[in-house]
Amino acid sequence: MNSADLITRYDGRVPRYTSYPTAPHFTPAIGPERYLDWLRTLAEDVPVSLYVHVPFCDRLCLYCGCNTGVVRQEAPRRAYAALLERELRLIADTIGRRQRVSTVHLGGGTPTTLPADCLTGLMDLVRAEFVLSPDAEIAIELDPTALASDRLEALVDMGVTRVSLGVQDLDPSVQAAIGRIQSYETTLACVRAVRGLGIDAINLDLIYGLPRQTETSVAETARSALRLQAGRVAVFGYAHVPWMKRHQSLIPEESLPGPQARFDQRAAIGRVLEEEGGYLPVGLDHYARPDDALAHAARSRRLHRSFQGYTTDAAPALIGIGASAIGCLPQGYVQNASAVPAYSAAIRAGGLATVRGIALSSDDRLRRAAIETVMCDLQADLPALARAHHADPAPLLAAAAALERFETDGLVQREGGFLRVTEAGRPFVRNVAAVFDAYLNHDEATPRHAQAV
Ligand SMILES: C[S@@+](CC[C@H](N)C(=O)[O-])C[C@H]1O[C@@H](n2cnc3c(N)ncnc32)[C@H](O)[C@@H]1O
Ligand code: SF4
Repeated sequence: MNSADLITRYDGRVPRYTSYPTAPHFTPAIGPERYLDWLRTLAEDVPVSLYVHVPFCDRLCLYCGCNTGVVRQEAPRRAYAALLERELRLIADTIGRRQRVSTVHLGGGTPTTLPADCLTGLMDLVRAEFVLSPDAEIAIELDPTALASDRLEALVDMGVTRVSLGVQDLDPSVQAAIGRIQSYETTLACVRAVRGLGIDAINLDLIYGLPRQTETSVAETARSALRLQAGRVAVFGYAHVPWMKRHQSLIPEESLPGPQARFDQRAAIGRVLEEEGGYLPVGLDHYARPDDALAHAARSRRLHRSFQGYTTDAAPALIGIGASAIGCLPQGYVQNASAVPAYSAAIRAGGLATVRGIALSSDDRLRRAAIETVMCDLQADLPALARAHHADPAPLLAAAAALERFETDGLVQREGGFLRVTEAGRPFVRNVAAVFDAYLNHDEATPRHAQAV
């Protein structure tokens, strides 16, 4: 089947499955009390990952789908950092001991909008209240156009081991259309500065499906990205969700490449990264150099999927700090208030800012395992997954029956309860995972998610 037919057939709107159940299914039934209970029962030997959300930027990129806003004054930035510390202390006090932490990720927004002393103070607090594993990864998202020298120096004091740089696209006309001017030289200077600090683990973010992008232009951006020699490159499809992110309506719908062009752009970036750069594809949308830990994890089926995308971090619990941050404990998911005023009010009142979440049923856990395995390994042994969950494989096998048309279309191969997503199926892996999603209305495309392709 050719790509045009595949796109027509599979370009519905499906979740990215950074969690299961996905965030739209979280409800107010889970609030601070439940979260506090869940934290109190966290097992001692369970390592946790910490995610810290900073919802501030110096500017607002028109395409941005993140929970962020422009805040330029120092006072609200400092006030927010103080609230993060308060939330962190309350969580550590509730756990009642210094829990082991395997990964710290500061994301946003742009975490380096916080003053340098706030960033180092926050990491000092993490070290005081938790026990960082000796090989802990401390990762931070950076905007190469907005990185003051004191923030750069702070990365060393913080013990940062990995940085993710937003690049998106290096073509000036695309950058003008998306309100993000960032020359190759600025990006290169940032990469060099970070390497100069001894931080060699570098991720780059690219986006396709933006206005004025063509197959040729995105291939050129990918070629420039190769020169930066990052260990990992994430290649995201532009998620145009103006009903959720009003500023995106400044990008006219008619300026966006259609599904076929998006598909071709994604393929063009992949070709450059794989054939010219020697990167290996990882999961749905990541590429890693063969010697990178992410590529190793993919090969040995130890890859995991988190809210930041693909990761080597196997911690079974995630604690999210800050506005909109999501946490995941063995019992289920929790999410903080998204708006900074609501988050601030809750923390100032001395409590947690949890406003929604979901307790996991055994069926959720089983389906989550199938979805994560498909998204990470591009294959799944359904009876083995069910056995590992002491569960009946019947619900998974029944759901997998919907894969018949995927098989006919060459996207999936099946043998009994074993399924493998083919290379042709990789761009459609979310659609494959979606057959196991009991919450998705399978008959009707829901407009709450972005396009599949
Ligand atoms: C928090 S930002 C990265 C750090 C920093 N704020 C920056 O932009 O350089 C996270 C990444 O999400 C991606 N992103 C943001 N909005 C998106 C959208 N609407 N569709 C797809 N990817 C998006 C971009 O690749 C961006 O680099
Ligand atoms: S892409 Fe990054 S810098 Fe731009 S608005 Fe979003 S979070 Fe801020």
